[in-house]
Amino acid sequence: MTDKVALITGAARGQGRAHAERLSADGADVILIDIAGPLPPSVPYDSATPEDLAETAELVAANGRRALTAIVDTRDHDGMCAAVASGVAELGRLDVIVANAGICVPSTWDRVSARDFQDTIDINLVGTWNTVMAGARHIIDGGRGGSIILIGSAAGLTMEPFMIAYTASKHAITGLARSFAAELGKHRIRVNSLHPGSVVTPMGSERMVAAMADAAESNPVLRPGFVKQLIPDSIAMPEDIAAAVAWLASDEARYVTGAAIPVDVGVTGT
Ligand SMILES: NC(=O)c1ccc[n+]([C@@H]2O[C@H](COP(=O)([O-])OP(=O)(O)OC[C@H]3O[C@@H](n4cnc5c(N)ncnc54)[C@H](O)[C@@H]3O)[C@@H](O)[C@H]2O)c1
Repeated sequence: MTDKVALITGAARGQGRAHAERLSADGADVILIDIAGPLPPSVPYDSATPEDLAETAELVAANGRRALTAIVDTRDHDGMCAAVASGVAELGRLDVIVANAGICVPSTWDRVSARDFQDTIDINLVGTWNTVMAGARHIIDGGRGGSIILIGSAAGLTMEPFMIAYTASKHAITGLARSFAAELGKHRIRVNSLHPGSVVTPMGSERMVAAMADAAESNPVLRPGFVKQLIPDSIAMPEDIAAAVAWLASDEARYVTGAAIPVDVGVTGT
């Protein structure tokens, strides 16, 4: 990855931070984007802060690489285009996009308001589309090809109970990756979706777990969470997902495109 440039959304913490640390350790400079502020009110876990985003940039700097940060909501198409254009102008090129920003709001179907549904679709689907639209043209302009990685979820490959909007949005990520892969292939840009199972991040905080347990009481037959892990006692960390991102970003994966790749301890495999 030496001297390549990667754009990462949702970079303030959690998996996005791990992707920034890993890609910079592998030699890339990074453009780090995060809302770094309040998430929609239905989200049952704390929001990231500007300090979190600055901390990610410091971790990149400690790897000897450059990090540019921008506080942007991925729902803001024009804002995304402007931030990415400015980052590319400063760092000189763009090779990799990791569209990672997302939210998750567990609830029974009848407690999801129209606003809640829209918020999840707007961030997880439209925000991901905005991210690709803001960055792909710059990769094409470089003429060197590149790699785009859309972060889905095991819920993008199988049904996750009590998460209708989330499950729908993450299934859409699978389609988005396949469709972009088809059209961007002629520019030697690979596009894949990556589907984590449970990962230890602020998204999975106590309030989130409580919200899932609360929803599960309505229908105990449906067990929430990715419960059928095939390897005992597995606790996936952000770095485990970052390892797959690093591989997809690299030339080691040069013939991998249009794929939906789970890193989920097998929960979608049976
Ligand atoms: N944690 C898990 O168990 C898990 C499992 C499967 C998939 N995922 C997916 O992985 C991705 C990263 O999640 P995470 O676990 O690191 O969660 P997280 O909440 O710790 O981090 C997500 C980051 O995205 C940012 N973000 C959210 N909405 C944004 C917006 N509109 N614009 C810009 N930034 C925004 C947040 O501020 C936060 O910094 C998400 O797409 C999530 O759906 C997570």
